[in-house]
Formats: sequence, C-alpha cells, structure tokens
Amino acid sequence: MSGLVDVVLGLQYGDEGKGKITNQLAASGEYDYVFRFNGGGNAGHTIYKDGQKYVTHLVPCGVLHGIESIIGPGCVLNVDKFKAEMVYLFESGFDTSKVKIAYNCHIVTDDHIQEDSRDVSIGTTKTGNGPAYRDKINRTGIQAQDVPELSDYLVDIGELSCYENKFLAEGAQGYFLDIDYGDYPYVTSSNCGIGAVINNGFSHKQIGNVYGIAKAYSTYVGAKDYQFEDNSVVEKIRQVGQEYGATTGRPRQIDWLDLDELIISCQRNGVDNLIINKIDVLEEVGIWKIIEPFAHGRNVLSFENKNDFIGYVDRILTKTFPSMKIQYQDSPM
Ligand code: IMP
Ligand code: MG
Repeated sequence: MSGLVDVVLGLQYGDEGKGKITNQLAASGEYDYVFRFNGGGNAGHTIYKDGQKYVTHLVPCGVLHGIESIIGPGCVLNVDKFKAEMVYLFESGFDTSKVKIAYNCHIVTDDHIQEDSRDVSIGTTKTGNGPAYRDKINRTGIQAQDVPELSDYLVDIGELSCYENKFLAEGAQGYFLDIDYGDYPYVTSSNCGIGAVINNGFSHKQIGNVYGIAKAYSTYVGAKDYQFEDNSVVEKIRQVGQEYGATTGRPRQIDWLDLDELIISCQRNGVDNLIINKIDVLEEVGIWKIIEPFAHGRNVLSFENKNDFIGYVDRILTKTFPSMKIQYQDSPM
C-alpha cells in the first residue's frame, strides 16, 4: 500500500488564498508530510495562525503545525533566501528541524536573480525563477544534492511516497499562470496544475482529494493589461482585499470572477472541493459581478446580493460538476 496525496492548487492567477486552506488542512493532524510542488521564492503564502500573520515564500506551512515540510523536486530554491526564511521561522518559534528539501530540487543562483531582475516584458517577481527552470530544462542546473550546505535537509519524495504516508501537496501560483496552459508568455516557468504533483514523485492513482482554490473576484500581477475597469469600485476592492503582491508589493490588477476560466481549471485539475475565498471583500464593497460563462464575448452580470451571487455560481457549477463540493469563505484572519 502506498501513500495518498491530497492537493491544494490555485485555479486563477495565484493569490487565491491557498496558504489559508493548506493551513486549515494541515491543522487537521491528518498529514505526515506537507510539500510544495512547484515554484520558488516567487510565491508568497500569507498565513494566519493564532491571530498572528506569517508570510512564507519557500517552506510549506506544515512547519507551523510541527509536520514534516518538504520543498519538492518541482520547486526551485535560493540557498540564501531559504536560510533567511529558516531564521524567520525559527525566531517565530517553529520547529525548523521539520523542514526538508527534495534532493532533486533545483537551485536558484545569484546570477539567476540578477538576470531576472532585468526583466521588463513579463513583469516577473525578479526572484530568478525563470532562469533557474531554464537551466534545469537545459540540463545545466544545480540540484540541492550538489550543495554541501543543504546535505542535512535532503529527502527523496519518490521514495517516501512508496510507504503508507499521507501527504498534502501545496501549490504555488495558479492554473492560468501555468507554463503550458496560461496566457503565454505572461506565465510563470513551472506547471501549477495537478500534473505537477505527479511529477514530484507520485502515481496518478495516489491522488486523493483535490482542493481547488479561487477568489470571489480575480486578480493578476504582471506586465500585461488585465484589468478592464479602472474606477472607485475596483480601487475599493484592492484596498479592502489588500490586493498587493506578497512578494513584490505591486498592486494586483483586478477583474470579476470569470466562470469560463473557473470551469476550465476545475475540469483540468479534477477538483473535488472548490473553495471560493474572500466573499467578505465583495460584501464590504457591496458589488457582486461575474463574467458570464458560455457567452459570446465578454458579458458582465450583476447581482443584487451575496445570496444571488452564490446561487448563480452554484447553479452553473453543479450543472457542470454534479459531485464537486463548493464552499464559500471569507478572507484569512
Ligand atoms: P515569475 O514566476 O517570477 O517568473 O513571474 C511570472 C509571472 O507570474 C508574473 O506575472 C508574476 O507576477 C506571476 N507570479 C509569480 N508568482 C506569483 C504568485 O505567487 N502570485 C501571483 N502571481 C505570481
Ligand atoms: Mg501568493
């Protein structure tokens, strides 16, 4: 009998609140391991524990619950940033001896970061992510096992997955930033969907519950024009929802919930449990809008209140995914 892996992944453009949901699941005590399956220091996971806010970039939030937490082989890692995050976690009182790194995780060098810092066309997070993945694919990269400083942390997820362990896989970014299925080139340099989990050392038969995370509206941060409306309502959403990049502080561009996109990402990732976050933000702003699915061109629907909004989303999605569970949640606190 081999291990089972539950998955938390983003269904939009990142910043859907994956950290919050991973944190809720990790707190259940059900998991032996939590691991990150893609991305690197470009991600910013904001987590609240006991009323205290923590922001991590690399280390999965299992460490906040004393669970073995692995930076997976699908990730890339800068050694200095990793060490700084370990100091931050240790000083915050967490047991950093639980943190592990997949031996075959790739290294982000200072040259990668310098190269990425010159990017203007994609609007990257300038964390060296793209150049590190490029060198991995080019077979000129460095793996964690090549770095003596990391030798105490190394594990093999592929091996751990052969035993009766229960894993929680934590994604970074979102399906529409996926290198293959996002709006190329305005994407990140890794796969952000379910396939990436398998490539961290599992069989498709080991995939358990897939938690797909979305927000009640949509945000994107990067170089392309994404936001359709620029007015006081959108600005209010940005303020109330604190829609600024956790890694770079950039204002996120904002649009309404796109149900066509949500249907695609639920379908492609086999989502069992859909969680739509930040309902309280729209409630406070008092505007409920959705980009109509199955329409020819862009058509924005307006709803009177939360119940009508939720009723519509439920109706559309349960028609398409009869067995999918849908939950609506507020902002993390
Ligand atoms: P990179 O991943 O730093 O190369 O950036 C590529 C694109 O992905 C840019 O548009 C970034 O803003 C976006 N991106 C990368 N990581 C995140 C994230 O954690 N949240 C939201 N957007 C992200
Ligand atoms: Mg984020």
